[in-house]
Amino acid sequence: FLRTASLSQIPVEDLKDPLPPHWKCYMSPQGRRYYVNTTNNETTWERPSSAPGTPKNSFRHKNSLPINCVTFPSPACMPEQQLLKPSEWSYCDYFWADKKDPQGNGCITGFEVLLQKQLKGKQMQKEMAEFIRERIKIEEEYAKNLSKLSQIPLASQEEGTLGEAWAQLKKSLADEAEVHLKFSSKLQSEVEKPFLTFRENFKKDMKRLDHHIADLRKQMVGRYAAVEKARKALSDRQKELELKTQQLEIKLSNKIEEDIKKARRKSTQAGDDLMRCVDLYNQSQSKWFEEMVTTSLELERLEVERVEMIRQHLCQYTTLRHETDMFNQSTMEPVDQLLQCVDPTKDRETWVRENKTGEIRPVDIEI
Ligand SMILES: *[C@@H]1O[C@H](CO)[C@@H](O)[C@H](O)[C@H]1NC(C)=O
Ligand SMILES: *[C@@H]1O[C@H](CO)[C@@H](O)[C@H](O)[C@H]1NC(C)=O
Ligand SMILES: *[C@@H]1O[C@H](CO)[C@@H](O)[C@H](O)[C@H]1NC(C)=O
Ligand SMILES: *[C@@H]1O[C@H](CO)[C@@H](O)[C@H](O)[C@H]1NC(C)=O
Repeated sequence: FLRTASLSQIPVEDLKDPLPPHWKCYMSPQGRRYYVNTTNNETTWERPSSAPGTPKNSFRHKNSLPINCVTFPSPACMPEQQLLKPSEWSYCDYFWADKKDPQGNGCITGFEVLLQKQLKGKQMQKEMAEFIRERIKIEEEYAKNLSKLSQIPLASQEEGTLGEAWAQLKKSLADEAEVHLKFSSKLQSEVEKPFLTFRENFKKDMKRLDHHIADLRKQMVGRYAAVEKARKALSDRQKELELKTQQLEIKLSNKIEEDIKKARRKSTQAGDDLMRCVDLYNQSQSKWFEEMVTTSLELERLEVERVEMIRQHLCQYTTLRHETDMFNQSTMEPVDQLLQCVDPTKDRETWVRENKTGEIRPVDIEI
């Protein structure tokens, strides 16, 4: 319904024709100009001319300004308002007005802006899960490659202390593979999975909230139209009464006196009607207001929860990653120790002991 609200034509400010004294021009959130008389707060869409006389089509509420059927205080009495949650930058304080749609010329409500943020948050979390999945795949593949390499029998015949160190080095690849495999499985259960278990039915819940708030706005639009209609009816009745009164001044007659009584009754009735319509509109706006506060605070809570949850699991990621390095290092320690013990002299002794073919040296022939 908001997209059809025609608040689009922007009057061109005529600089050659200045505003009459005490009138100021303001811009509505939809980018439409309106004018406020700073002495009595009278507010109007129509540019007042320097010619005397009150502007037509005035809002008639001196201290308020309806925009898309929501009634705001006129800018002249803004300082009276205080934030609901001062200094908290709460969602419930900053999304009351509608906003021009960046694409297209319609506008979206402040509430829709909040909902879009929520849906984007859900999408971001899903993408983070995807990213972690890729990270897991790299670890798994790396582990598989390490383990495959550790089983290749190259240089398995090396002997002695060097042979032992070499065997340990090959074994360390298998240990490392284990470490990376553990890292990948922990990433899956402790990071990826929590990211994927986003509140079920989230989108449905958001849609429900959207419809609820939009329905309340629709009701306000209807009731605002009723107020305008009742206002017009009252003004017509008043004009009629005025006309009859003028007629009576020209020519006294019982019939006209009767007509005046009737017109007065009708005018009073129109006034009552208007009050009833305003009351209904007020109730509707007040219900919308309450729902907006409750719901936006709920959205705010959900967003804090989301950010906190993601932060925690990313911390878990860095912890696991550090652990991997530590375990990974511990797989290297035995290799290092054995490398320290590599002793070519000892190796020679061992090898000679095992493979010697005879220590008795030859002597000269005796005849
Ligand atoms: C694993 O080895 C294959 C080739 O055997 C290679 O294409 C791939 O990049 C390796 N992956 C990692 C993570 O080292
Ligand atoms: C509508 O609301 C305004 C502002 O709260 C109040 O002054 C006025 O009396 C209300 N009108 C009716 C008819 O309820
Ligand atoms: C430990 O793992 C990382 C990759 O996770 C790798 O780059 C590194 O070479 C491994 N070894 C040691 C001793 O850190
Ligand atoms: C050296 O001795 C070891 C142990 O008896 C044996 O396994 C190996 O085959 C021998 N090497 C050669 C070259 O004979």
